[in-house]
Amino acid sequence: MPLATFGAVLLAAGFVLGVETLVMIAAAALVALLLAFLVGQWWVRRRLPPLSKGTVAFFHPFADGGGGGERVLWAAVQAFQDTRPDIRIVIYCGPGSTPEGLCEHVALRFNLQIMPTFLCVPLHNRNLLLPNRYPRFTMIGQALGSVRCAWAGLRQFVPELFVDTTGWAFPYPLARLAGSRVAAYVHYPTISTDMLQRVWDRDALYNNPEDVAGSPLKSLAKLAYYHAFALLYGLVGAFAQAVMVNSSWTRRHIAELWWRWHKPVRVYPPCDTQALQALPLDRRLKRLYLISVAQFRPEKDHALQLRALAAARTKAAAMHDAAGDAVLAARLKLVGSCRNGEDEERIAALKALAEELGIAAHVDWCVNASFDELRLLLGDAVAGLHTMVDEHFGISVVEYMAAGVVPIANDSGGPHEDIVVPEAASTGSNAGAGSSGSQRVGYRCRTLAQYADAIVEVLGMDQVERIRVAAAARRKASQFSDQRFQREFLACLDDVLPLNRRSAPPSNVMQ
Ligand SMILES: *[C@@H]1O[C@H](CO)[C@@H](O)[C@H](O)[C@H]1NC(C)=O
Ligand SMILES: *[C@@H]1O[C@H](CO)[C@@H](O)[C@H](O)[C@H]1NC(C)=O
Ligand SMILES: *[C@@H]1O[C@H](CO)[C@@H](O)[C@H](O)[C@H]1NC(C)=O
Repeated sequence: MPLATFGAVLLAAGFVLGVETLVMIAAAALVALLLAFLVGQWWVRRRLPPLSKGTVAFFHPFADGGGGGERVLWAAVQAFQDTRPDIRIVIYCGPGSTPEGLCEHVALRFNLQIMPTFLCVPLHNRNLLLPNRYPRFTMIGQALGSVRCAWAGLRQFVPELFVDTTGWAFPYPLARLAGSRVAAYVHYPTISTDMLQRVWDRDALYNNPEDVAGSPLKSLAKLAYYHAFALLYGLVGAFAQAVMVNSSWTRRHIAELWWRWHKPVRVYPPCDTQALQALPLDRRLKRLYLISVAQFRPEKDHALQLRALAAARTKAAAMHDAAGDAVLAARLKLVGSCRNGEDEERIAALKALAEELGIAAHVDWCVNASFDELRLLLGDAVAGLHTMVDEHFGISVVEYMAAGVVPIANDSGGPHEDIVVPEAASTGSNAGAGSSGSQRVGYRCRTLAQYADAIVEVLGMDQVERIRVAAAARRKASQFSDQRFQREFLACLDDVLPLNRRSAPPSNVMQ
């Protein structure tokens, strides 16, 4: 969309100025750009230390955090330590972080074993990246902040390969001027085409205050700001030489925004599913149950799960056969953490709803279960319910599948696009189904009736068929493992990695 805008502006300029003038202006701009590049390079390199050959630096100012983004960082570091010990690793991180401290944190939080043989380069100005520093023009403020942050890092160390694992694209040109090659792993686009559309439609949303939506003039200014920003974002993105994204959704947006010939490579983030993959696939048939793993948050829509069970029971009661009896005997176990008073109220309301639907005697509440308890519960569940709409990924669904639990998920977001996708087939075929030679790995539902049908079908399945589906689901889940991530991550960087110079000294010799 930003490119289309750019094209439209160009076309209009062509009409007004005439084609020849436009070509001349373009040529002049090109020469000016080239000059600016040469001068910039000279200016930047005079101020930076010389490039260190055989090094890879990760730009991750909040490396001491505990989110999914950090798991990607550390799994990548581990991949290098395991396969390329000749490469020296550097991490641009917060002040006060030490390799030993970070390794300990990573072992506890992510269960990943990292050696403290990397170097920490402190970014004293990393707070420039926090959005609350910029009440207005947040995007441009943070973008400039990220450039200053990267500059602070490069002033201390210039690597051969600069890997951004946070999605801050604006420092890429700077790193290239410094002489580094640049690779990126993007979780989320800084600006999305959805946001542009929203300003265009002028609906009031969180980062689009109502006074702007109300006035056409302000709205127009905001639209110009967003488009200019998106254009710039696409331009700086072009400076990355290897680009990975964490999902199909992000891939679509980055492919649309960044000025690149090649589509970004989709490398799913690593999920730790080893412990679940080790569970046996067969189940104790005496006590069939469904499981649901989700925090008790409103968007998880637990109410729909209760209604689906009630609907499935109504359907089963009319069947008068073994499958129907299995459904009537089955239980639903809701597993989730409860964070605060609001969650507690929600649980109370859900219990009341179960009562009202007449299924309270068939529902178990497993609030604040530990990981070990969760593992035991997953080990005996037959099917797993997921009802959140438009979840970008859905790690709980991957966990179901790794444990051999057949997922019954809403047909949107990650489950639709990436996870509950039949083997040897791609998105778009109906409901994760196993027609025309592909093997079903689960069920995707759009309506309450589809949920009820799926529940009846899985609970009524014979053991051989269910194990076939569960085994396929487990194979699918292994696509999201640590090992798979590390293999794909390194493969994507193949062209930009420092050469493997066998004569180089061992990597753990730090100067
Ligand atoms: C990609 O990253 C975003 C932002 O952290 C996250 O919301 C999303 O779930 C991730 N997608 C996958 C497939 O992990
Ligand atoms: C679950 O844990 C939260 C905080 O960790 C606590 O406030 C809540 O009371 C706990 N609920 C139950 C049922 O154990
Ligand atoms: C599931 O997701 C779809 C979007 O694909 C949505 O339209 C639908 O309402 C959702 N269904 C249920 C039962 O939540």
